[in-house]
Amino acid sequence: MLTHEQIEKNVGWMIVLTVLLVSVAGLVEIVPLFFQTSTTKPLNELVKPYDPVRLAGRDIYIREGCYNCHSQMIRPFRAETERYGHYSVAGEFVYDHPFQWGSKRTGPDLARVGGRYSDQWHKIHLLNPRDVVPESNMPAYYWLDRPLKDPHIGAKMEALRKVGVPYKDDEIAGAAKAIEGKTELEAVVAYLQGLGLALKQTR
Ligand code: HEC
Repeated sequence: MLTHEQIEKNVGWMIVLTVLLVSVAGLVEIVPLFFQTSTTKPLNELVKPYDPVRLAGRDIYIREGCYNCHSQMIRPFRAETERYGHYSVAGEFVYDHPFQWGSKRTGPDLARVGGRYSDQWHKIHLLNPRDVVPESNMPAYYWLDRPLKDPHIGAKMEALRKVGVPYKDDEIAGAAKAIEGKTELEAVVAYLQGLGLALKQTR
């Protein structure tokens, strides 16, 4: 039997036992999350898979690196909930692969930005933020006003289905048609306007 003193004096044992301890303790914390309804099932019937336009908008959001300045996770603190609305819960994000939570906030959190402004406000703001918020230091995304081209939209939905997003065959088949004639700008705005609606709380 190893004594405490022997372990402390033998770096080999120390490493092996530390790794063992951290692994077991980590698994005890992490594994249950894969089986809890609150983290694996949608919060309510308002949490739905992204339609093709919003999905394409979300991909543009990721492509343009919006997450470098915007988190999508409201922490359960008074200062946050007063400003942004109800704190975020896991069941709101079950269809987000990958999720956009983050902690870097050069700009405000966007978890509940859906419905806060009109579509027109978002369009002007994205093309040149200073047109609506004079002191803004957000970059202008003036190139977004161009046709949305996403030839892989159906394949993306199929891939998402493999990781558990319940897209139906006809939704996937109709995806290319659904985004036809849209601009990138419209897709990003559609994405933003749907954020956080499942658990909305008036501010
Ligand atoms: C360099 C940092 C930065 C990047 C990158 C950035 N933003 Fe912003 N964003 C800001 C700042 C700062 C504000 C607050 C001032 C304003 O409203 O323009 C803001 C505000 C916003 C708002 C209004 C939020 C509110 O509640 O008032 C939205 C919506 C938004 N950004 C969307 C986006 C999207 C979409 C992208 C990517 C295409 C993006 N931002 C990229 C910094 C950034």
